[in-house]
Amino acid sequence: MAVAKEKRIILKYADARGYSNDLPCYLEHGGYDMLKKAVKSKPEDICEEVLKSGVRGRGGAGFPTGMKWKFLDRKSGKPIYLICNADESEPGTFKDRQIIYKDPHQLIEGMMISAYAIQAKQAFIYIRAEFFEGARILDRAIAEAKAKNLCGDNILGSGYSCEIVVHRGAGAYICGEETGLIESLEGKRPNPRIKPPYFPAVLGVYQCPTIVNNVETLCNVKHILEMGSDAFGQLGIPNNTGTRIWCVSGQVQKPGYFEFECGALTLGEMIYDVCGGLNPGRSLKAVIPGGSSAKVLRADERFTGTHKDGTDFDWGITDIPLDFDGPIAAGSMSGSGGIIVMDDSVDIVEALANINAFYAHESCGQCTPCREGSLWMRKITTRMCSGGAREEDSDLLVSVADQIEGRTICAFGEAAAWPTQSFVAKFKDEFIAKANQPAPDDDAEGPARLQLI
Ligand SMILES: Cc1cc2nc3c(=O)[nH]c(=O)nc-3n(C[C@H](O)[C@H](O)[C@H](O)COP(=O)(O)O)c2cc1C
Ligand code: SF4
Repeated sequence: MAVAKEKRIILKYADARGYSNDLPCYLEHGGYDMLKKAVKSKPEDICEEVLKSGVRGRGGAGFPTGMKWKFLDRKSGKPIYLICNADESEPGTFKDRQIIYKDPHQLIEGMMISAYAIQAKQAFIYIRAEFFEGARILDRAIAEAKAKNLCGDNILGSGYSCEIVVHRGAGAYICGEETGLIESLEGKRPNPRIKPPYFPAVLGVYQCPTIVNNVETLCNVKHILEMGSDAFGQLGIPNNTGTRIWCVSGQVQKPGYFEFECGALTLGEMIYDVCGGLNPGRSLKAVIPGGSSAKVLRADERFTGTHKDGTDFDWGITDIPLDFDGPIAAGSMSGSGGIIVMDDSVDIVEALANINAFYAHESCGQCTPCREGSLWMRKITTRMCSGGAREEDSDLLVSVADQIEGRTICAFGEAAAWPTQSFVAKFKDEFIAKANQPAPDDDAEGPARLQLI
């Protein structure tokens, strides 16, 4: 069977020849027509369309966007805020920045439609400091939009007003977690808040009802309005509607970002057909399907189970459908859409050491299990790679991870624990083999090292 073709909806113009990221170019392609339509519609009708479309958040958790909007506390009388999460901090993920750099007005239009739908009085784009060029592009695009009355006061004469402000973070993974982001936006250290009570839809920024959505999610809102929820719902497969932008990195011949209908291809088709396969002479060892916090999948594993509709599945790694539910059924997740491919040249213990170094560095430190555990896991995997590992280290590593999972304020705890739990469970022999080994010779030719940070 032929492999599905890319279906570019969000990225339709991003890489088109001659397309520039300024307003005249965006307007030439029907830009802001959906905002014009939106401000003539009832806000609740747009919310209903988003709900009916079945679109799920593209930031990591895959929560249905329309449902999230329904949770907004509209009775409090407090102002409502919309925040676009442009932190894009999950290692292996590089999609949102493409939209921001190449088609910023699409994001601004998606945000203004969303802001109108939820009747937000103020919208923010929270962007990480390292994307200084992205922030500059967004500032310019917002100024262009404002000059044409596409945001700001009395948008297009509708009587609806909403300012949009770019807020630069200082560059921390935890600022991608929505409540950490909100704290940072308020000018504080990004310590995530406890849920309950701090569900952003009820108690968000400035203790007011707030919707936090990912860049790609907000762009989808424009397309839902354009094609209608029914047509949007026809894209992809049930419960996994629309397209997704996948970022493929690691040891494939043609890494990159690709937009496909959800469920249109398998992980194997992505690696071998879209990304040109592995380097010559290499075989597949493992794949992390959804950013570094997703559980690793081993190339020779079988994934069996029963779908919600009662049908059974029995997959090899290459059979896993690329949608939201496929990687979950395989015991992992599609997370942020960052697929990291590892061939047989990868030292799996070094790969985990790299990931653990990242999480130890990024923990905000509020919860003891996360603060101490992430450092402890880093210490163990570092000594495994530098000589001096002990026989009991692999079990110790897992027991530390187990003490983090489910015992923390935010999901960073799971993000830090899952790599260790899955890497050791699936490659235990390689971890045990590190015990009592001498320190490696740094000058010698070594296995390929995954550089996640
Ligand atoms: C540790 C951590 C880091 C996160 N980083 C990001 C991020 O960089 N970008 C993002 O959109 N969501 C990130 N999320 C998810 C957000 O908390 C939130 O669920 C998301 O922005 C909601 O948008 P969505 O519903 O459109 O997916 C992160 C979550 C956690 C726990
Ligand atoms: S789990 Fe980690 S990152 Fe999240 S609040 Fe606790 S210490 Fe901070």
